[in-house]
This record gives sequence, C-alpha cells and structure tokens, in this order.
Amino acid sequence: MHQEYTFTFDKTPSCVRIQAEFPPIARICADFASLGRGGVGRILLVCDTNTEYIARDILGTQDRPWCILPQGETAKNWVSVEAILSAGKEAGLGRDGLFIGVGGGVVSDLTAFAASIYMRGAGLCLVSTTLLGMVDAAVGGKTGFDLFGMKNLAGTFYPAPLIYMPLDSLLGLPQAEWKSGMGELIKTGLLDDTGALWEHLRILGPEPPNSQDRTGRERMFASIARAVQIKGRIVEADPKETGTERVRLNLGHTFAHALESAAGLGQVSHGEAVAWGMVRACELGYVLGLTPPDRVKAITSLIKDWAYETRAPHPSLEEPGKTEAFMRALEGDKKKKAGKLRFIVPCTQGVQAVSAEAIEAGLVERIICGTLDTLL
Ligand SMILES: NC(=O)c1ccc[n+]([C@@H]2O[C@H](COP(=O)([O-])OP(=O)(O)OC[C@H]3O[C@@H](n4cnc5c(N)ncnc54)[C@H](O)[C@@H]3O)[C@@H](O)[C@H]2O)c1
Repeated sequence: MHQEYTFTFDKTPSCVRIQAEFPPIARICADFASLGRGGVGRILLVCDTNTEYIARDILGTQDRPWCILPQGETAKNWVSVEAILSAGKEAGLGRDGLFIGVGGGVVSDLTAFAASIYMRGAGLCLVSTTLLGMVDAAVGGKTGFDLFGMKNLAGTFYPAPLIYMPLDSLLGLPQAEWKSGMGELIKTGLLDDTGALWEHLRILGPEPPNSQDRTGRERMFASIARAVQIKGRIVEADPKETGTERVRLNLGHTFAHALESAAGLGQVSHGEAVAWGMVRACELGYVLGLTPPDRVKAITSLIKDWAYETRAPHPSLEEPGKTEAFMRALEGDKKKKAGKLRFIVPCTQGVQAVSAEAIEAGLVERIICGTLDTLL
C-alpha cells in the first residue's frame, strides 16, 4: 500500500506519502533531499510522550537529537514552541536544518510553527500519526499554538514540503481519538462532489480495522487517500482562505467550535463536535430550503448509527446558562472572522456557505435547543 500526491500551496509543492509502515530516518532525509530544496543539514525530531515510540522506530539505531513534548492540547503553547526552538539551537540546526514532527495535529501544528520562524524558515517534514492529523491537520499549511486562552491565536502559513502518513501508527490510537478523526473524515466525505468517499465510508463502518483485517485496512487506506486528495485540492485552489473554496472545510465547524467552547475546552472532542455540528448544519440547510430531506436523513442516520451524539440540545448544553455561552461563543467567532460569520450547509451535491446575516433571528438558537417547529 503506497500512494503519493503532490499539491501546490502558493507555489510551494507539498508531497504527501500515504503508506503502511513508518519511514526510516535515512528514507526521510533522502526523500527530502530529492525535493530539490538543497541538502539536508542537521535534523531534529519532535514528538510527544505518546508518539515517542514511533520516533524511536523511525530513528532505529541512529542517534539523533530530539525533543519530547507533553501530550495533548494543553501542551499546544508557547512553552512547547520555545522547547522546539531551543532544541533546534542546541542541535546546531542552521537554515538548512530539518525539523521532523512525529505526532498528531498538536505536534504537527507546533513543529511547523517553530520551523516557520526558526532562522526565518527552516526545513520541515511531518509524520502524521492520528487519523485527524492525516485527514486534516497535516495538509494545508496552517500552523499555530494556543495563546491567551484562545485556540490557534498565534500561527503562520507554512506548508510542509514532505508529509508521511504511516497507517501502522493508527493501530495504537485510542478509541476516542479514532472517533474524533472519523468525525472529520465524514465531513470530508460530504465535500466529495463525486460521492466516492461517502460510499467508501458507508462500507468501511466506524470501527478501526485490526492489523489482520486486510480488506478493512485497504478500505481505510483508500478513504484516507481520497480525503487527503480532497483537502489538498481545496487548499490548492484557495491556500489562505481568501476565496470561497477553503471555507467549505468548515462544514459543521461553526456549530462545533461554539459547542466545544460552551462545553469547556476538552469536554467534547473536536471530531465529535463536528459530527454534532453537521447534524445542526443539515437542519439549518433544511429550514432554509437548501438541504433536501433525503440528504438530511442520509447524513443524520450515518452519524447516529456511528454512535455520535445527534440530539439537540447537546447533553453538555443542558445546564443553565450553556445556551447563552454557546451564543456568546458564536459572537466571538464572528469577531475573529471580521464580522463575517458563515454557516456551511450540505446542498443537493456538495455544500454551500450561508451568511449569518441571511438567517432569521432566533433560528440558530432554536436549532441548538431542539425547539424547531419544522421537524424532519
Ligand atoms: N493545521 C490545521 O489545519 C489543523 C486542522 C485540524 C486540526 N488541527 C489541530 O490539530 C489538533 C488536534 O489533532 P489530534 O486530534 O491529532 O490531537 P493530538 O495531536 O493531541 O493527538 C491526540 C492524542 O493522541 C495521541 N497520539 C498521537 N498519535 C498517536 C498514536 N499513533 N498512537 C497513540 N496515541 C497517539 C497524542 O499524544 C494525543 O494524546 C488541534 O490542536 C487542532 O487545532 C490543525
């Protein structure tokens, strides 16, 4: 199993290699050198406490400098960025140095950010080890870390020229992380105008295939490959989200971000929030006459069958004051986006953006509280 794609991000090519096994360090260095960006100077491996075993496998018997970060979103901060920069300096990396981030979205966002500011831009390779990282975080050039209590407040655009997605890393992934990644994969399936990824997913089912299940692994491989292709093409068309393409990736996300924030960061995983958000987006699209009822039913039943929360209100919004917190989070999101809050809703084929201004007052609140009169 091996698939390779190259996308261009603002003239910078990004090569994505989806394969079964972890890439050995010698392979990574040779592949990076073959991209024609000059020789590879010194290297630094960055991982977290849960991906250290993968970094060790990549290194084999080679003794190279590395930086092990604490795991999880709480480590996505300036202290970790400083730790990477400091380890880079200690290891003597110059501008021709190569930072290799081995981990999920947190490690890849942090490593890419550090590489983007190290000596005004050093070499970067990502080895993505979570499902969410593969189908979303590692592709597209967004880097960053959380600051002043705000997710990804600081960041840059710095696409990795070389990205590996070793499927073997998914074998060790905790169930909750698998489910979170599957939420994003369902979303990408809905962005596939050909319907191919959606069909792949329906056959695949929500559970991770085990190492003996050859057919399941092949289906998983095909689904990830298709998702990477879809995201890559969207990003290629609109690298910095200044046009109308990249915003489509936010299907379910306007509802999801507000839910994550109102519930308390970390209470609902990102992918689960996105799954719940897609059901709300379907309801909104249906009321606005944009999402046909059969599409609402198909999307909602898959999400429900795969054991995601679909009810409104979401259990974590049932406490007093949580609906208000949700609406405040939406307002905060609007400010962050220069007053241009948009909901992405599924339509007959693909998705479509709807400006918050075009939505009647109180409708979003009724949708999240589950008090819509027009039931499907
Ligand atoms: N840059 C982007 O475009 C983009 C897009 C989507 C999400 N993100 C970011 O990605 C982050 C979420 O990514 P994530 O869900 O991968 O989180 P994560 O990196 O925190 O990984 C989730 C958990 O799985 C562990 N883990 C990682 N790989 C493992 C493996 N192979 N086996 C066992 N455990 C493993 C991690 O240590 C962590 O505990 C968020 O910070 C989000 O903002 C970025």
